[in-house]
Order: sequence, then C-alpha cells, then structure tokens
Amino acid sequence: MTEESLNQTERLRLEKQYNEMAVLAGGLAHEIRNPLSTIHMNLELLFEEIEESEDPAAHRMLRKLKTIQDQCENLEEILEAFLQFTRAGELHLEGVNIANVVREFLEFYKAEAEERGIEVRPHLRSDLPVVELDVRLIKQVLTNLVQNAQQAMPEGGLLELQTSQRDDQIILEIIDTGCGMSPKALEKMFQVFFSTKPSGSGLGLPTVRKIVEAHQGTIQCESELNRGSKFSLSFPIHRKGH
Ligand SMILES: Nc1ncnc2c1ncn2[C@@H]1O[C@H](COP(=O)(O)OP(=O)(O)O)[C@@H](O)[C@H]1O
Ligand SMILES: [Mg+2]
Repeated sequence: MTEESLNQTERLRLEKQYNEMAVLAGGLAHEIRNPLSTIHMNLELLFEEIEESEDPAAHRMLRKLKTIQDQCENLEEILEAFLQFTRAGELHLEGVNIANVVREFLEFYKAEAEERGIEVRPHLRSDLPVVELDVRLIKQVLTNLVQNAQQAMPEGGLLELQTSQRDDQIILEIIDTGCGMSPKALEKMFQVFFSTKPSGSGLGLPTVRKIVEAHQGTIQCESELNRGSKFSLSFPIHRKGH
C-alpha cells in the first residue's frame, strides 16, 4: 500500500468515526428534547396551580419552581443551538439576491428591535447578482449574529446591516455599537462552547462559521471594547464545482 492510500484509509476511518459521533450526539439531543418539553409543560401547569392557592407555604415553593423553569428553558436553548450546529452543513441551495433575504429577516425582526431600543439601519443594494444560498440557513446566520449584537447592546444602540459586491464576492456586514470584545474573546469566539454570558451556549458563532464555510464563504470580525463589533461575511458569486 502506498503512503497516500494509507492516508486515504485513515481519513475514511476518521470520517466514519466522526459521522457516527455526530449522529449519536444529534440523536441524544433529540431524545432529551421531548421529555424535557413534557417536564417544562407540567412545570408551567404546577406553577399556575400554586399561584392560585391561598396557602403561604405553597407560595414559598414558587421561587424554587421558577428556578427549575429557568433552567429548563436554558437547557432547551442549549439543545436547540446544538441541533442547529449539527444541521449547519447540509445545504438546500436556491438562486437568490441576498439583499432580499436580509429584507425578509428584518421584516420579522423589526418589532423586537424597536422594543429593545435598537435602531436598525439597512444598506441593501438591490442590483446584486443572484447567488446560490440556503435561505433558511442564511436567516439562521442573521438570527445568531443579530442576537449577539442585541445582547451586546442591552441599553439599545445602532445596528447596521449592509450588503454589497466586491469583485466576485457578495459581502454581508453586520455592525453594532455594543460592548465589543476583548482580544482574548476575539481569539476564542469561534470555539465551540466559548461564551462570556452567564447562560450562553457558545454555539452561535461556531454555527454561523459552519454555515458560511459550507457556502464556500469566509467570516471575519473586527471589534473594539466599548465601541462595537463588525462581522464581515463574504460569499463567492460562483461556487467551485457548480
Ligand atoms: N456582537 C458581539 N459583541 C460583543 N461580543 C460578541 C459579539 N458576538 C459574539 N461575541 C462574543 O463571542 C462569544 C461567543 O458568541 P456565541 O458563539 O454566539 O455564543 P453565546 O452568544 O451563546 O455566548 C459571546 O459570548 C461574546 O463574548
Ligand atoms: Mg450567541
């Protein structure tokens, strides 16, 4: 056997092992999701029942129940983020103008932005060439990046969403005036489970990067503490092998 075919065998073995682990982990998350949602639903019912009771001892239980409920929600969010991460590599492509995808996203997001005192400034060029994208996953990217921006601006702020073309790339930029990142956070932000938030999953940015790379794109970030952050994503107009 040549060295090259050995490497090939080893590579296939590792790939098989990786796929097996991914299927197992995904399956585990699915299995946990249903019983967790039953627990959560029953907690809500219990909470309502106790709230109506006149008994002061019952009322003391409410605080503990609330803690359990919060942790349930936390677990559900982590599971959801985890499942999104495992699904981020499978693309269902269609030819679209990315500006329209951002517009659709904003249509759905604008009420929440207003509620949180975030001024959204879109700069969306309509004359961009059509590119092959997985619309659902690109909206996932927008959701994750905008959620981070929002969490970085708890008192509100400015959120710019920009689409443009540079040579044979489509550029999508998300800019916030939030808390920014320390050099250490900048270095680690794409690592799975890295989070500076008390109940963050640390899976938002790894999922974003996985989706962008599945589109043969790239992602970069510039950030300054107390000033804000800018995420720049680029997607090739012509994908290799298409
Ligand atoms: N727009 C942003 N402004 C400031 N910090 C950010 C921003 N986006 C990401 N980060 C930092 O990167 C970390 C990882 O982000 P992410 O993977 O989405 O996980 P999570 O949001 O669950 O913490 C965050 O905890 C935060 O420290
Ligand atoms: Mg996040």
